[in-house]
Amino acid sequence: MPLRMKGREVAQSVYQQLREQMRGLTFTPSLRVVRLGRDPASVSYTRLKDKRARELGLDSKVLELPAATSQQELLALITELNAAAEVDGILVQLPLPEHIDEGSVIEAISPEKDVDGFHPYNVGRLWAGKETLEPCTPAGILRILDHYQIDLAGMEAVIVGRSNIVGKPLAAMLLSRNATVTIAHSRTRELADVTRRAELLVAAVGRARFIKAEMVRQGAVLIDVGINRVDDKLVGDVDPAARELSRAYTPVPGGVGPMTVAMLLANTVKAALRRRR
Ligand code: GUN
Repeated sequence: MPLRMKGREVAQSVYQQLREQMRGLTFTPSLRVVRLGRDPASVSYTRLKDKRARELGLDSKVLELPAATSQQELLALITELNAAAEVDGILVQLPLPEHIDEGSVIEAISPEKDVDGFHPYNVGRLWAGKETLEPCTPAGILRILDHYQIDLAGMEAVIVGRSNIVGKPLAAMLLSRNATVTIAHSRTRELADVTRRAELLVAAVGRARFIKAEMVRQGAVLIDVGINRVDDKLVGDVDPAARELSRAYTPVPGGVGPMTVAMLLANTVKAALRRRR
């Protein structure tokens, strides 16, 4: 029987650690989540981030702006948040409306408050193997693998998906743990041949049940980053039949998802500690 790696439980242990850390603080770390428009997924993610932050005792606010907010107005808000002494963490929920240049917004956030870890300064530090604010989803994946004592050194890892949010930063983090890393994507030829080599296979493509059993090596560890809505049900990027071949897998929901918010709050506390020391 493959091992079901329960992100929800690992997230609980992260929250427990954070609660203990918070008890020793003489100040309240603060998070500002910025959202433009009312995309349903973004509304639900930003609400959840705010709810969990408040539960932990952080000073959290969601700043809800109209979808038609101009780039200039958004950049002005970020400048204000960068300068605000009481603000430790800034997160601008992605994706942004078409008329806004995502890169410019990410680069406007002060790297020390960049709790998403998306600023080129933090991305550069990550690839250089230096201490930094790490992107939340890859950090959550590493935490799950550590919790279940998966030894990454020398492991053949294949990540399907090359996004700046998951695939690329995860590659840097697995490399720093001495895994052999391949990033595959929509233009990869003979994808199944590539994924079948993987001892650690990470699916971050955003296509429901994309990874089929015939793409999986017997005994692989499967990490499913997908959150796809199919007939009002949440399904991952990994076909359930593929899990049967694995040594261990993350379910959807209750796998990687809950870790992302937990690591965001860990980054917020970390940013607060760094800024105030
Ligand atoms: N949209 C999807 N994932 C993320 C994330 O980790 N951070 C932000 N800011 N937006 C997202």
